[in-house]
Amino acid sequence: MLRSALLAASRSPQVRTVVEKFPPTHAIVERFVAGERLEQAVAATDELVATGRTVTLDHLGEDTRDAAQAADTALAYEHLLTALKETGLAASAEVSVKLSAVGQFLPVDGEKIALENARRICQAAADAGTTVTLDMEDHTTTDSTLSIARELREDFPWLGVVLQAYLRRTEADCRDLATKGSRVRLCKGAYKEPESVAFQGKQEVDLAYVRALKVLMGGEGYPMIASHDPNMIKIAGQLAEWNNRGRDSFEYQMLYGIRPEEQLRLAGEGNTMRVYLPYGQEWYGYFMRRLAERPANLVFFLRAMATR
Ligand code: FDA
Repeated sequence: MLRSALLAASRSPQVRTVVEKFPPTHAIVERFVAGERLEQAVAATDELVATGRTVTLDHLGEDTRDAAQAADTALAYEHLLTALKETGLAASAEVSVKLSAVGQFLPVDGEKIALENARRICQAAADAGTTVTLDMEDHTTTDSTLSIARELREDFPWLGVVLQAYLRRTEADCRDLATKGSRVRLCKGAYKEPESVAFQGKQEVDLAYVRALKVLMGGEGYPMIASHDPNMIKIAGQLAEWNNRGRDSFEYQMLYGIRPEEQLRLAGEGNTMRVYLPYGQEWYGYFMRRLAERPANLVFFLRAMATR
């Protein structure tokens, strides 16, 4: 119930206006977001890399309805990738992109514009010597995102894509994508989805995650296990062993600010541990989804608001 309400709020312009009028303190947003500026994102990346972790940076933004803003987002990624190259961080840091932030939802030629903008970002990543992963948004975008990913992979075969275990279709998508060179980030899924397309309960979603993970770990691609769930992490380790996968043939991923000790433990054991690091001014949707995931986050938020 609470999760549904928060996820609905994450897409409501009215609630957004209210929350942005009374923004949470910096300390709360900073728990999940590296900062608003590029330099802050680069500094946070540097700190994570210094502790043995790798990074994927997300320039916050989504649901863009304006072509100029979509182009600006692509430009922001180009600047970010140049900075990663110049600081030497590109060896340890890639970028994550939401296609809706680069034009996918534009009423005219949305997909075409998103493809062109994503292509610019991929080219900048190639020039910097790093990679790009496409985030996955709500289920209405899955086909479009996978089709854009297919097209981009012809020129940028290292392009990664996210699949969401809660979608009923995902096990089949994993089978399609568990091929040589293919990078798939498997997460549980963070949007409010109808029962017709998505498993609803935690147990059902967890089981679906394990089924999808089995396909990816048994395949020839490079699975990226994006979860904070101790059970999923344990099962991933076992599946790696059963499939004789070396530590360089898969990686763990977690969100910035969530379970940092576990991140360090996994990295300390010699695993690739990648932290998803968001930065920028458009923190609202991302922040609300994090609150929806975990009641403890909401309590933390409300307590801080009450003591402002
Ligand atoms: P879940 O939320 O079920 O938590 C399971 C357990 O993990 C908890 O019981 C607890 O033990 C532990 N845990 C979770 N949060 C914790 C916390 N804050 N502190 C301590 N323990 C905690 N979604 C999407 O729809 N599209 C996308 O593109 C992406 N991209 C993405 C990238 C990366 C790198 C990650 C890690 C996640 C995403 N997500 C996403 C979000 C994802 O779908 C999901 O909502 C969250 O990761 C939460 O799911 P968990 O797998 O962590 O399990």
